[in-house]
Amino acid sequence: MSTPHNEAKENAFAKTVLMPGDPLRAKFIAENYLEDVVQVNGVRNMFGYTGTYKGKRVSVMGSGMGIPSIGIYAHELYAFYGVETIIRIGSCGAYSEDLNLFDVILAEGASTNSNWAHQYNLPGTYSAIADFKTLLKAYEVSKKLGIDAKVGNILSSDTFYNDTVDVWKKWAKMGILAVEMESYALYSIAASLNKKALCILTVSDSLCKKEETTAEERQKSFSKMMEIALETAE
Ligand code: HPA
Repeated sequence: MSTPHNEAKENAFAKTVLMPGDPLRAKFIAENYLEDVVQVNGVRNMFGYTGTYKGKRVSVMGSGMGIPSIGIYAHELYAFYGVETIIRIGSCGAYSEDLNLFDVILAEGASTNSNWAHQYNLPGTYSAIADFKTLLKAYEVSKKLGIDAKVGNILSSDTFYNDTVDVWKKWAKMGILAVEMESYALYSIAASLNKKALCILTVSDSLCKKEETTAEERQKSFSKMMEIALETAE
């Protein structure tokens, strides 16, 4: 079996797939964290791999950037490849003064400026939320690893460059912790297909504080997030 965007064979993916935005990050994770790895997808260079972590079968695949891109890959994994849980591992821009660079966020809910949910023909506004058990497990794993993960609502934006300056402050006033571009779609698709999803984010930049980061710091923070995701995977 294959899809227009995925050449993997039936059962090529594990029940849990970790999804970074960048396919080369998926490759890095596969090569550095997993054992007995096989590449299962290469269409459009959106690399996907399956291997084991501490004996547990886990897959990792890129999602690309933005709601339309993750929308395609997540739908196909859930609907055609028997995937039960997708754990997105991404970066975000902080909206909250209480967040520092490299802090880890577990996205309990995702708000959006996207019209993604229009397709569900709902007579109102859909609140996209993480799977509670996966969220709880990730939170407990974080505690065990000594990581003070923040839990809350984030914004999945359709725009990285916004023509309206300072509009982010309206979201910040509503308690939105940070902005990224994928979670709302992932949570909605999971709900519509009766599957599970969680988004784990590290703060890569801040809209309220000006701070510089080094490559070493970025790598270290990335490892924290990876460890939470790998330990949380069922
Ligand atoms: N905006 C949107 N997505 C992001 C950002 C941002 O500032 N940082 C990391 N992902």
